[in-house]
Amino acid sequence: MLGRIRPSAPVIEPTASYDAPPEPDPLAPDPNARRVVRWCEVEAVLASRCQRCHAIPSQAGAPFPLLGFADTQREHPPGSGEPIVRRMAHVIRHRIMPPIHMPLEPPVLPLEPAEVDLLLVWLEEGGLPFGGVDCASQRAPGAPASASHR
Ligand code: HEC
Repeated sequence: MLGRIRPSAPVIEPTASYDAPPEPDPLAPDPNARRVVRWCEVEAVLASRCQRCHAIPSQAGAPFPLLGFADTQREHPPGSGEPIVRRMAHVIRHRIMPPIHMPLEPPVLPLEPAEVDLLLVWLEEGGLPFGGVDCASQRAPGAPASASHR
């Protein structure tokens, strides 16, 4: 009917029209990080970032070596029943290691975000020897384990 006033359309209040992207969770790997990490990729990070202290003999007071896969599976502290891989998850999540506060030369640098993701994904997947633990045989002949960041 002409002239009839249409009830006004209900106003739909936009709820949250735009959700800001969540802050990255520093305790978890990036959700887009790769989900499959081989032991030898982990070993390369340990070589460049951890083994300057976690070696044999140990340096700067590091309490155990982190040279090969077997080292990550040992118990620490002795008698605790807790494997080193569990301690690794803690110190990587909370950015306790590498200890950038230690006044050493060359300086101890923090891990790159991609290195944190790689270690956290490996640890969350169970710290397994995926891809094999004999990394020397997987490197090109003559190639160093890793030279950067030492
Ligand atoms: C500059 C030397 C240095 C570097 C580099 C270093 N650490 Fe350590 N780490 C130490 C020392 C010293 C301790 C003992 C600290 C303590 O007990 O408070 C330690 C302790 C630890 C512990 C045992 C902590 C606990 O609470 O049980 C873990 C696990 C560990 N480091 C892993 C790593 C990993 C993984 C890396 C490389 C990403 C790394 N560290 C790099 C010196 C180092």
